[in-house]
Amino acid sequence: MEEKAKEIKEALLSEIEMVKVSQDLVQIKAKYLGKSGRITELTKNMKDLTVDERKSVGIISNTLKEEATAIIDAKQQELELAILNDKLSNEVIDISLPATRVPEGAPNILEKVIEEVESVFMSMGYDVVDGPEVEEDHFNFELLNIPKGHAARDAQDTFYIEGDEMLLRSQTSPVQARTMLKGEGRVPIRMICPGKTYRRDDDDATHSHQFMQIEGLLVDKDISLCDLKGTFDTIAKELFGPDCVTRFRPSYYQFTEPSVETDISCFACHGKGCSLCKNTGWITISGAGMVHPNVLKNCGYDPAVWSGFAFGFGAERCAMLKYGINDIRTFYNTDLRSVKNFDREER
Ligand code: DAH
Repeated sequence: MEEKAKEIKEALLSEIEMVKVSQDLVQIKAKYLGKSGRITELTKNMKDLTVDERKSVGIISNTLKEEATAIIDAKQQELELAILNDKLSNEVIDISLPATRVPEGAPNILEKVIEEVESVFMSMGYDVVDGPEVEEDHFNFELLNIPKGHAARDAQDTFYIEGDEMLLRSQTSPVQARTMLKGEGRVPIRMICPGKTYRRDDDDATHSHQFMQIEGLLVDKDISLCDLKGTFDTIAKELFGPDCVTRFRPSYYQFTEPSVETDISCFACHGKGCSLCKNTGWITISGAGMVHPNVLKNCGYDPAVWSGFAFGFGAERCAMLKYGINDIRTFYNTDLRSVKNFDREER
């Protein structure tokens, strides 16, 4: 028996020596240690043996099993090490090769302009608030002094949903009403609301059915048009440079009285006249005015006590002016090259 075990071990060792790849090792393992492998076979006729014989065969075969397993495992490790060494010596990493450029994200230019406007207003004590994009007619029009059937509603061709009570807000002005309705306890009110607005406009270079407005509202005692002018002037200088001057032109909005259009001096030509300002020297930035007494009343404020100003401007227009973009669709197409271009300009 011992002779047989020795013979098996030697056979195994000589076979192992020839092995070059681990697949061959798998076969050898099966040949010796498998169910009907040579070592397993040793114990096949155990039942015909005496107790003592069984004992010795058991010991011999178990020892051989352990030895064979150790031999095969050692060979396996040897093969793995050889593969690794081979890899290490052949696969040289050339660190001087140029790396593949991973595309980086870039800040959205519109978002950037809005953040800039927000930070200027916040430095003047304004809160940045939010309002729903799916709005009630009541807030979008009614409370803002634009009753049903009023011509001003046509000017803002609205996306109605579910009859004529729910709509996609056509302006951010309803957030004025929502803020005031939170109660007199909150005065003075100083808020801006940047947000998406929707109109049934055909998209072209200057129109988009969805665009961003930034609404502003201030309500306190003894507020006059001078306060609006001073605020507007400060903001314009912050956003467009210290030599930017401003002017008001009379206008008309249902929810303000008096109403104005606010212009800034053209920052490209400093008033001399150029294509950006259509040779006028001025660029219109926003609509604004003193909060209409009816709006104050509608929202629970006594116009004899409280007064305020409001304004609203298009964020895209602001960004277009600042970055010389001549098509509003640039903000909403999916061409990443436009984002990259503005990003590079900033660096
Ligand atoms: N909501 C106006 C629009 O969409 C813009 C506007 C004008 C807002 C005057 C105001 C304002 O708050 O006072 O055209």
